[in-house]
Amino acid sequence: MALAAFLPSWLYSSTAVAERERSHYNQRCWHPVAARSALESGQVLAIELLGQPVLLTRPAAKPQAPPATPDGDNPPPRAFLNRCPHRGVALLESGTAAQSCRRLICPYHGWSYGLNGQLLAAAREGEFLEPFNRDDWPLQELACRELGPLIWVALGPNPLPLERQLDLVLDEAGELFAEPRQLLAREQRGLACNWKIAHDNTLDDYHVAIAHPTTLHREQGPVRLYRHALSPHGTLLATPLPPGGEGNASGTFFTFGLAPWTHLLLWPDRRLALISFLPGAALDRCTMEVWLFGPPELAESASSWMAVMQGFLEEDRHLVESAQRGYASGLSPGPAHRLEQRILQWQALYRRLLDLEHWQPPAESAPHVTIRPPRAATAPSPC
Ligand code: FES
Ligand SMILES: [Fe+2]
Repeated sequence: MALAAFLPSWLYSSTAVAERERSHYNQRCWHPVAARSALESGQVLAIELLGQPVLLTRPAAKPQAPPATPDGDNPPPRAFLNRCPHRGVALLESGTAAQSCRRLICPYHGWSYGLNGQLLAAAREGEFLEPFNRDDWPLQELACRELGPLIWVALGPNPLPLERQLDLVLDEAGELFAEPRQLLAREQRGLACNWKIAHDNTLDDYHVAIAHPTTLHREQGPVRLYRHALSPHGTLLATPLPPGGEGNASGTFFTFGLAPWTHLLLWPDRRLALISFLPGAALDRCTMEVWLFGPPELAESASSWMAVMQGFLEEDRHLVESAQRGYASGLSPGPAHRLEQRILQWQALYRRLLDLEHWQPPAESAPHVTIRPPRAATAPSPC
């Protein structure tokens, strides 16, 4: 395999690779799971993260306690597996909005928990067959952070530092990212391709002028003005927005490519779009999720903004679904162009997190393949 090569196509259709993504890739990354503004003090929110039921809580601050966050608004959120330690039942059904709650009561045998995950009481507590200690039975906690307008959760015990996963965002647009904003709209759509094909495509700055001539290309402007930045964990395409452009404010339009399968778009007028391509249950399916954030005064125009976003994303649909068929037929991908360097940079991170160099896949996955790392656009760093 050439040194500056794209990932080989068998990595997009191997169940062993998908399993390794679950054990080595997904677990090392932080996942945006909710808008910061969606969870108030004293509330709980049940969500699904990669098929795993998760509870987000924001325990109310103690009355005399100092403010828990610099802005003094809210104490920090916590995340737990939504799984009662007694017999595994979910404490709360997912799919509903955040609700105020003093304690979580398991619907099966009535154990109750505080929003800090501690067991407060069990039914008929004096009658267990062995000595029973409440402190031995807290909810299992997950790493949880707030950064920018989002709440982030990591499923594994050893995630990358979140600031490293978002290093380019913080370095290039830290103040803009930190601006207060609300979730204005959110939509999900299915795509008939492996998530990596959709993620590759959204990192691909080579196709925009050809495939999106009247949509994204107009937003991003002339290719000669493209500026790229790469880090070991992220990529950036920055383009200048002229006064009176789509963003109604001049400045820089930032498109960040982030692990694990995420794209963060930032406009100078404080709009922020998050696009993720979540792996599907089948290897040739994924779910595209689009979140739009902005200042409250943009709420009325959120549906037309979403229509614009979905407009260019639908232009990509037939391309990624067609590429899926090409990859599935055993393609050896062609040479990488300068404007595809963000794909190579992300794929270098993917190889490192999966530790592909030291992995011997089952024979049926890669019958005659030796995996070698590509020449990285920047020096790889330990993850
Ligand atoms: S499963 Fe929750 S109390 Fe038994
Ligand atoms: Fe595209």
